[in-house]
Amino acid sequence: MLTHARSDFPDGFLFGAATSAYQIEGHGFGGAGRAMWDDFAATPGNVVRAEDGARACDHYHRYASDLDLLSDAGFDAYRFSTSWARVMPDGRTVNPEGLDFYDRLTDAMLERGLKPMATLYHWELPSALADQGGWRNRDIAGWFGDFTECVMGRLGDRMYSVATINEFWCVSWLSHFLGQHAPGLRDIRATARAMHHVLLAHGTAIERMRGMGVMNLGAVFNMEWAAPADDSAASVEAAALYDDYYNHFFVSGAFKGTYPDRLVAALGPHLPQGWQDDFATITAPLDWAGINYYTRSLLAGNDGPWPHLHAVEGPLEKTQMGWEVYPQGLHDFLVRTARDYTGDLPIYVTENGMSNADQRVDGTVDDPARIAYFNSHLSAVRDAIAKGVPVKGYMAWSLLDNYEWALGYEKRFGMVHVDFDTLERTPKASWHAFKDMLAR
Ligand code: FCB
Repeated sequence: MLTHARSDFPDGFLFGAATSAYQIEGHGFGGAGRAMWDDFAATPGNVVRAEDGARACDHYHRYASDLDLLSDAGFDAYRFSTSWARVMPDGRTVNPEGLDFYDRLTDAMLERGLKPMATLYHWELPSALADQGGWRNRDIAGWFGDFTECVMGRLGDRMYSVATINEFWCVSWLSHFLGQHAPGLRDIRATARAMHHVLLAHGTAIERMRGMGVMNLGAVFNMEWAAPADDSAASVEAAALYDDYYNHFFVSGAFKGTYPDRLVAALGPHLPQGWQDDFATITAPLDWAGINYYTRSLLAGNDGPWPHLHAVEGPLEKTQMGWEVYPQGLHDFLVRTARDYTGDLPIYVTENGMSNADQRVDGTVDDPARIAYFNSHLSAVRDAIAKGVPVKGYMAWSLLDNYEWALGYEKRFGMVHVDFDTLERTPKASWHAFKDMLAR
């Protein structure tokens, strides 16, 4: 059981769960277009068993009973995302069936008393736009602005909050430098352009939504605590570089209108010309910030120009992903983000959770490690609140076991188990633990 109670958190604190469109809906129906993840998965060697999101959890057809799982547990909010490839199959032309789906989903949330927290982009770029360079192409800011207007023209009056982009670092660095996510590039010039354009697209979408009167706008940043593997100057520098491009670059761009000096030095020649002139848009004022947090990394120095490329295995307990369990990092990021970037703005933990090789035994799924993970990270949130950080909500990742990107259906993050043959849902012990906590 969770040792916390709802009453341990400030009045109005929101508990919810997060998912994303491509990971749960199923993109093989409803007129959804081809997304770059379909292409990435079809390319041998990119995704475990070459799995894609064509069926996923079939949430597209089962959304009503999936939302019941949230309301039955007593959650207040649901963080979901709207698929660009579903709403605009070629990236530019509207698929009315796609918009209708999100309209139904929104009403179904409201009927259950769940606050809709939308994320406009959680990675399913239409292939047709990837063909035109995707995040490397500056035009994506306008394309994303148009998509935003289209979606929020339909849903904007009923959203509790709206985020533009999920995890700027993953959209740019993980996908264009490390090549681990679609489009699978390993190209420093593409990376620098994507890093800048993803922020420009974000700012453009915020400006468009302000113009439409959509309320409570924010963005979701993923952060991974970066620590030196040892005391050497080289390792300290490696961790600082990692911290800069992972954790500082995007919040610094969005809230301060600057990029860290180290990154300007390292990426400068690759950034698009005139990047300095875009900050008026990139810093469009926000109403809140979201932090996704899972783990930390230990970095060791090496002789290369990118010393962080040498990450060392740490000593702490690990999840099924091999990620160390390090709740202190969540606390420290909440404190640091408010202190250095967001001040009094509300902060939400928009994702936090762990994967585990859960098994269904006699109709139940016992996941004590996940309960312990939630417990320690909720403690970290409470500690930050006690220090005055305005944390206003916590969204567990995830409601359902789902498509974990390059790792296919192998890694289970859900509070609800999904049998990917029958698609049967089974609430795990962690779901019951939340239900119990939220009633207290
Ligand atoms: C985050 C993603 C989310 C999920 C979790 C485990 O980086 O936003 O879609 O894959 O990691």
